[in-house]
Amino acid sequence: MKIILTKNYEELSKKAAEILAEVVKTKPNGVLGLATGSTPIGTYKELIEIYKKGEIDFSNINTVNLDEYRGIEKSNDQSYDYFMNDNLFSHVNIKKENTDLPDGSNPDADGECARYEAKIESLGGIDIQLLGIGHNGHIGFNEPADHFAPKTHCVKLDQITIDANARFFASAADVPKEAYTMGIGTIMSAKKVLLVATGEDKAEILLQTVKGTVTPAVQSSILQFHHDVTIVGDEKSLSKIMAEYPELISK
Ligand code: PGA
Repeated sequence: MKIILTKNYEELSKKAAEILAEVVKTKPNGVLGLATGSTPIGTYKELIEIYKKGEIDFSNINTVNLDEYRGIEKSNDQSYDYFMNDNLFSHVNIKKENTDLPDGSNPDADGECARYEAKIESLGGIDIQLLGIGHNGHIGFNEPADHFAPKTHCVKLDQITIDANARFFASAADVPKEAYTMGIGTIMSAKKVLLVATGEDKAEILLQTVKGTVTPAVQSSILQFHHDVTIVGDEKSLSKIMAEYPELISK
């Protein structure tokens, strides 16, 4: 695992965008696995800046996303589809038909999850998967469990996740209770993984991710078994790793 320490959110976002841009440059028909949440927003802003400078071209890039709320239309401004259009797709020359997310409006959970998994396979897999991390170690919406889910599936969201996401809704009661998410197996099949985290409140879970026991109780801990993971964090999110394992940090 490579752990990159950055000074602050702005620097973190620039570094993460550079890593994504490098994949777009070296594989112009590559597959990006994207993420929502607040942390990647700066990464997308910086990626758009790199695009505007003419350094990268999205015309043959495909994207898939980690997850989507179940029971929500794409046009809903709380959908992850809407988020991706708003924060990235509408600002670059990606073809809309080359972007895919689980379809939260499809009530047929098994059918939709199977379609999505097959789609990722038909694209030849994911070249780089961007991840945020939840306070409970969730990646995508893979919540603490007694197993690691191999494939895209339907999940019930943890109360901690509903509460964390309530800030985007009128109230916690409005947050959808279920989602479709890539499985841990789907994420682990990505050729590269790039995890971004900011703030003190992520310091403990990052420490557990990097050095804790590998357990489905902390789903992100499985990343210890992936051969190409880069974590980009700021000083606060990496504070516990810096204190206990300074040798793991590259600057
Ligand atoms: P955040 O979410 O980037 O908004 O903290 C991360 C996540 O829950 O995956």
